[in-house]
Amino acid sequence: MNIRITGTGSALPDKILTNAELEQLVDTSDEWITLRTGIKERRIASEGEYTSTFAAQAARSAMAMAGIQPEELDLIIVGTVTPDFPFPSTACIVQDILGATNATAFDLSAACSGFIFGLSIAEKYIRSGAARKILVIGAEVLSRIVDWRDRNTCVLFGDGSGAAILEASESEDHALLSTHTFSNGSFWKLLYQSGSGSRNPASESRTIDERLLYVNMEGNEVFKHAVRAMEEAAVKALDANGLTSSDIALLIPHQANRRIIDATAKRLGIEGDRLFTNLHRYGNTSSASIPIALDEANRQRLLAPDSKLLLVAFGGGFAYGSALIHW
Ligand code: ACO
Repeated sequence: MNIRITGTGSALPDKILTNAELEQLVDTSDEWITLRTGIKERRIASEGEYTSTFAAQAARSAMAMAGIQPEELDLIIVGTVTPDFPFPSTACIVQDILGATNATAFDLSAACSGFIFGLSIAEKYIRSGAARKILVIGAEVLSRIVDWRDRNTCVLFGDGSGAAILEASESEDHALLSTHTFSNGSFWKLLYQSGSGSRNPASESRTIDERLLYVNMEGNEVFKHAVRAMEEAAVKALDANGLTSSDIALLIPHQANRRIIDATAKRLGIEGDRLFTNLHRYGNTSSASIPIALDEANRQRLLAPDSKLLLVAFGGGFAYGSALIHW
């Protein structure tokens, strides 16, 4: 039994926040942001737009490409660190918006690796026969957990969603060949958001220290781990499939920082037009970054039939992983 990616979709807020506009908010410059991160602008959700808003839009687009109806879905997985609510899951809200009445729906928490972890779960559901048609989404509204007074973090993140439909199939086109997932919880303190969970509940004093609600990050340390871990995850995927990096037609790494992407690509020897980036337009959209990039590459027809595509992600946890696809 093969697992085919039959549709991809993405959705982004209309509102664009440029580096020049950020210069008005914090002590930063277009030059610094461009040089240190590669980001030029990012999309920001407006009032009345939530994680589920973009997740459902991306899902509809992926379903339209796959040619399937919402009732056909067996499972909906949403990877996110910015769910609409702590509960119910954003996946259940998306199920309701779509009218996917026959699906089981749940969220998963793997930070920027949420989409890869979602693919991995979907792969196992299909291989075991537990499901045939699965919607995997990465969706974030990070702008609502960013401290807009902190130049160290607020320049990095953006909002949006990407989605893919996976189906059980006999065909080898667009087949998901493998997924690999890894976690290293000993580094959780390098990248986290500490408020509103059971350690710092608002329920005790009925208020919460506002600073606990924001992304907390040791950027330099995260940077070093990200490069090493993405290389490790990519090599695992290549080895498992008996491939080398020269077999890869396109590498789509998590879009966190241009320097992380370039360092990873260099270590793997996959550079130039075999490396996909859209970070300059969207910033780091966490779990949404890989599926947005996958959808853009797909719609721009950058993925030739019969080629090999490598996805690799790294994020808070640490949680990291890879997926290899025969397109
Ligand atoms: N504008 C101007 N100056 C800035 C800004 C800014 N926006 N941000 C930081 N600086 C200053 C710092 O204050 C520091 O000044 P100092 O030397 O006077 O103290 C100087 O720039 C250098 O700061 P560094 O943190 O050393 O800069 P670095 O080159 O490491 O870049 C960055 C910082 C962009 C955060 C980088 O470390 C990075 O990208 N790390 C990885 C982050 C990441 O990918 N996080 C997400 C992971 S995915 C997930 O799970 C959410």
